[in-house]
Amino acid sequence: MTPVQDQPAQADYMVIPKPESVVLSGTGAFMLDGRTKIVRDSAVPEKDAEFLAEYIRQSTGIACPVVSRVRRNAIYLTVLDDPGLNADGYRIGVDKDGIHICGNTPDGLFHGIQTVRKSIPAGSSGAVAFPYATIADEPRFPYRAMHLDVSRHFFGKDFVKRYIDLLALHNMNYFHWHLTDDQGWRIEIKKYPLLAEKSSIREYTVIRREYDKNDGTPYGEGCYFTQDDIREIVRYALDRHIQIIPEIDMPGHMLAALASYPEFGCTGGPYKVWTRWGVSDQVLCVGKDRTVQFAKDVLSEVASLFPCRYIHIGGDECPKTEWEKCPDCQERIKAEGIVKGDAKSVEDALQGWFMKEMAVFLKGLGKTVIGWDELLESGAAGNDMVVMSWRGVEGGIAAAKQHTDAIMVPHSYLYFDYYQTEDRSQEPFAAGGKVTVEKVYNYDPLEGIPAGSRRYILGVQANLWTEFIPDEHHAQHMVIPRIDALSEVQWCPLETRDYPDFLQRLGRQKNLYDQLGYEYAPYVFEGE
Ligand code: ACM
Ligand code: ZN
Repeated sequence: MTPVQDQPAQADYMVIPKPESVVLSGTGAFMLDGRTKIVRDSAVPEKDAEFLAEYIRQSTGIACPVVSRVRRNAIYLTVLDDPGLNADGYRIGVDKDGIHICGNTPDGLFHGIQTVRKSIPAGSSGAVAFPYATIADEPRFPYRAMHLDVSRHFFGKDFVKRYIDLLALHNMNYFHWHLTDDQGWRIEIKKYPLLAEKSSIREYTVIRREYDKNDGTPYGEGCYFTQDDIREIVRYALDRHIQIIPEIDMPGHMLAALASYPEFGCTGGPYKVWTRWGVSDQVLCVGKDRTVQFAKDVLSEVASLFPCRYIHIGGDECPKTEWEKCPDCQERIKAEGIVKGDAKSVEDALQGWFMKEMAVFLKGLGKTVIGWDELLESGAAGNDMVVMSWRGVEGGIAAAKQHTDAIMVPHSYLYFDYYQTEDRSQEPFAAGGKVTVEKVYNYDPLEGIPAGSRRYILGVQANLWTEFIPDEHHAQHMVIPRIDALSEVQWCPLETRDYPDFLQRLGRQKNLYDQLGYEYAPYVFEGE
């Protein structure tokens, strides 16, 4: 039964991420009620108006019809180029006639819609009073993302969609999807059908990191995304103003692929989909032309599935032990005249050659390559590739200083597979480290970046590697509420960040998680 409510619920603007400026104007309030309509300007995607209607229905039970014109008692959605705001910015005005949400672009408008949605107290029912106010808001960084590894453990279509919803709730605009790794290949590639059929399956899963113990059960049969699934999820994300960046990690982290196609390795195998965690010495043989062609074939299918301008080709953790001994790899070094140069070794320079080869190929398909920060030690950074700084902040700083675009994902602040409290014994087994909500919150991606290089820091993301995260419950426990802290690092100017204030707003956000059925780690809420 719907609870009887004497007083209308009070909207506030205490949302996450915190808007840059909220000015309450006077003592009145606009009442959203059963007669309120949503008015959509012709430049506003129909879907966005429908999302707002659905959010309001979820939070209040009120169904607001979407119409093209009405004078009063409405939520007015418009898109207007506003030179005072960046592309993702929006303004909200609340007055006696209603709520005016104006985005600089449809993306900006969508963030404004999220702010209105989050301003309604979760779990209210019936009318909501919105105090008269003016809000102006825009993000600090143009790149705001979360990553998800679906290789080590698989997360299916429904969960990926829920994850995308969660990113949208936090005004993020990219989803970095780690689709392949040594322990399982998770995307259908038409030209190489065994990648999905066979490379998706490992013999068993190790218990934690105790290699003498395993569950004795094959893992991963059918655990991959068909190309139709991918198209469906890409569409789902685009509707929510999120671009998906696929990652096909190469030339290391390719053992699952080699298990089906051993001819692309240095030794010819045999290889098995890996049942260990960590870094394998067995990598693609970049000395063989057929391997280079294989990589291009895979990337061209992937590029055609994902409209996003970015494509991630990994490049992390690629040991060179096989390349040092492989006649084909050594011949490639000679034939291409590869020298050590700025790289760590001539084999690292060979990796740089391979990454550049892929970047040029993908540029021809209209794509910009992102790679892990090993790009810097292969001498391949620059060359229009974006560096993702994960081993620390140094890679991002070095890239920015040489005027190369970079994204900050330093593991010590932004690896959400790490423990999240002081007392590990109270937490599920994790990859190590210690990344508390407060630590995430206090991270400043521009620290150490000279003023003239700051614009090369495109933004920030957090990673969820899933070796020790077997299911959706656990994944949510690791992500929420650290994602809330992350979203303020991505969105809010450093000067406005205030941890106690954030915690108060997080308490409100928890009610929304309860309403939406998301699970979260309890630690910061204990002792509230
Ligand atoms: C990574 O964590 N290996 C990028
Ligand atoms: Zn080789």
